[in-house]
Amino acid sequence: MVDINDAAAIKNLDTMSMHAALEGLPAQCANAYDIGQKAPLPRIEETRAVLVTGLGGSAIGGDLLRVYCQERAGIPVVVNRDYNLPAFADENTLVFAVSYSGNTEETLHAYRLARVKGCRVVALSSGGKLAAWASEEGVPVIPIPSGLAPRAATGYLFLPMLAALERLRLLDGIDGAVSEMVAVLRAQTDSYRPEVPSDINPAKQLALEFRDRIPVIWGASGTTEVVALRWKGQVNENAKAPAYCNSFPELNHNEIVGFEQPGELLNRLWIVLLKDKGDDPRVAYRMQVTNKIITGKVAGVTEVASAGESILARLYSLIYLGDWASFYLAALYGIDPGPVRVIDYLKGELAKKQI
Ligand code: PA5
Repeated sequence: MVDINDAAAIKNLDTMSMHAALEGLPAQCANAYDIGQKAPLPRIEETRAVLVTGLGGSAIGGDLLRVYCQERAGIPVVVNRDYNLPAFADENTLVFAVSYSGNTEETLHAYRLARVKGCRVVALSSGGKLAAWASEEGVPVIPIPSGLAPRAATGYLFLPMLAALERLRLLDGIDGAVSEMVAVLRAQTDSYRPEVPSDINPAKQLALEFRDRIPVIWGASGTTEVVALRWKGQVNENAKAPAYCNSFPELNHNEIVGFEQPGELLNRLWIVLLKDKGDDPRVAYRMQVTNKIITGKVAGVTEVASAGESILARLYSLIYLGDWASFYLAALYGIDPGPVRVIDYLKGELAKKQI
C-alpha cells in the first residue's frame, strides 16, 4: 500500500506513467479533435447508420459517440464488441474499426467482414495490422499516437470519430463543445493531480471510499450509463479490482431487489450515483428514492455530479474523475496501474490457437 498523499511514491509505482497520461488528457482531447478534422474519410453517398467496432479501451469511445449522437444525429450509432457484424451493415453503413494497438483479433475479424460487406470503413488506430491492412487496401486510416495504454487514449479513441461525423454533416456544433470540455478537464486536473492532498482531492476521497469494497456505479440510460461502464472498466484495469455498473431506470426493475441478502456482502458494496443536470426529472427522482432504499444496507453511497455546460464536457468531467479515482485505488492497493497482464496473457494464448 502506498500513502495516497505521497505523490512521489504514487508515481514511483506507476511504471507506465498513467498519471502523466491523465494529466495530459485535456491536451490529448484538443489534439484528437484536430486529428479528426484533418483525417481522410471515405466517400459515402448516404449514411444510414454508423457502426463502431472495437473492444475494451477501444470500444468506450464508440459508446461515447453513441450517447452523444442519440439526441443529436438523425441516424443510429451502434457499438459492436464482437468478431461478427450485425446484418444491417452494408454499403450505407459507416464503420469505424477501432483498435489502439491495431492487433485485436475480434476487431481485425470485424474489419475484414465490413470490407466484404461493402461497408464504408475507416480505421482508427496507432498502428498494428489494422493500420497496415487498411493502408494496403486504400481504406482511410486515422492515425493516432502510439505509446499509451489504450484506456489512457480515450480522447484519441473518441474525438476523431466525432470530428468525422461533423465533417460528414451528420452532427454540428462540436467545435465549441470540445473547447469547453478541454477547459473543464484542465480545471479538474488542478484538483485531481497527485500533489493535491486527499482532504481536498475528490478523486483521492473516492479511492479511499472504494478501498476494500466493491464499487457499484450507477448512471442514467442514454447518458451517464457510458460513464458508469467506464468507471467499472477503469477500476478493473487500473486497480485490478472488481467493480460493477448498471443504469437507471432499468436497475429499478431488478437489481434494486437484491439489496436484502446477505448483509455481510452488501456491507462490502460502495454505490456511486452519477448525476447530471440533463437527467430526465423522473430518473433524478428515482435516484433519490433508490438512495433512500439502499442507505444503511451498503457500506456507503456517494453522489457525484457532472461539471460543465455541454453534454460532452459533462460526460468527460465524470469520466475524468473516475479515471483518477481508479488510479489512486491502485496506489492504495500497492498495484502498478499500467500493466494489464491478464489481458496480455489471454491475447497471447488466443494467438497460439486458430479455430
Ligand atoms: O485497456 C486495454 O488494454 C484493453 O481494454 C484493450 O483496449 C482491449 O484489449 C483492446 O485492445 P486494443 O485497444 O489495442 O484494440
